[in-house]
Amino acid sequence: MNPGASNFVQGVDTAFIVILGLSFVLLIGITFFMVYFVIKYSKKNHPVPEDVKDSHKLEILWTVIPTILVLIMFYYGWIGYQPMREVPNGAIEIKATGRMWSWDFEYPNGKRSNILVVPKDKPVKLNLYSPDVLHSLYIPAFRIKEDVVPGRPNYMWFIAQELGEFDVFCAEYCGVQHSYMLSKVRVIDENEFLAWFNKKEDESQQFASIGEQILAQNGCVACHSRDGSKLVGPSFKGLYGTQKNVEVNGDMKKVMADDEYIKRAIYDPNAEIVEGFNKGLMVSYKDKITEDEIKEVVNYLKTLK
Ligand code: CUA
Repeated sequence: MNPGASNFVQGVDTAFIVILGLSFVLLIGITFFMVYFVIKYSKKNHPVPEDVKDSHKLEILWTVIPTILVLIMFYYGWIGYQPMREVPNGAIEIKATGRMWSWDFEYPNGKRSNILVVPKDKPVKLNLYSPDVLHSLYIPAFRIKEDVVPGRPNYMWFIAQELGEFDVFCAEYCGVQHSYMLSKVRVIDENEFLAWFNKKEDESQQFASIGEQILAQNGCVACHSRDGSKLVGPSFKGLYGTQKNVEVNGDMKKVMADDEYIKRAIYDPNAEIVEGFNKGLMVSYKDKITEDEIKEVVNYLKTLK
């Protein structure tokens, strides 16, 4: 039998099939008796109504049988779920950040990736973290889903048992681009994984500059376009060096989008809101983007004329 894409597939699928099977038995049984009573007690077959006397035997029966059925569902549910909370020793720990609206995976050596790369047949623990709102990390092929809650550490773990790429979704409504909060798990051989893991930031090759890489890795580009189109936040295109109308404590003000402005917008994004945009959609990146990195971001923004 196919072991499944992760070590949890069999347990979850068994619980699912048991519940589906019992539901099917109940559907057939209830429908059967419904039709049977409709015919038996129709006016034609049963013209004079009678009182029904209570029956202890029947009451005990319809209490005990559903209790047993529900306990069977609970048993299989628990058997499938309980191992998900017990992480084996020696699991690779990866910090998984879900934010509006992208995923970021950080490995023990500091390597970061926007897709989850894991070795086959090794336990992997994901430490779940959200800087903004509720998200939920969902890997359907692995049969695992766990809420990512701001201010409350959570985790999930798995052993990938099949090579290949599998979808990652956000399964908790988190705002306008919730349905675009997608990623992938890539399961590769252990040797291949070690080579990937030890290679310094191969992602950087995709970026024209360090500043662009910083913006991409922090998920900035999910809300700020680089082609002038309006997303949740103002576009980066033509931003640097122009006058902006911003709202500060209810008053409109003109500010110059210079180095200091960029820094304020990253560290204290809700202090000045650009006209036409909403407050409270961005959190501070103070503990995520350093001042040196902001200089790189500014250099990149200067190129987006
Ligand atoms: Cu994140 Cu929905």
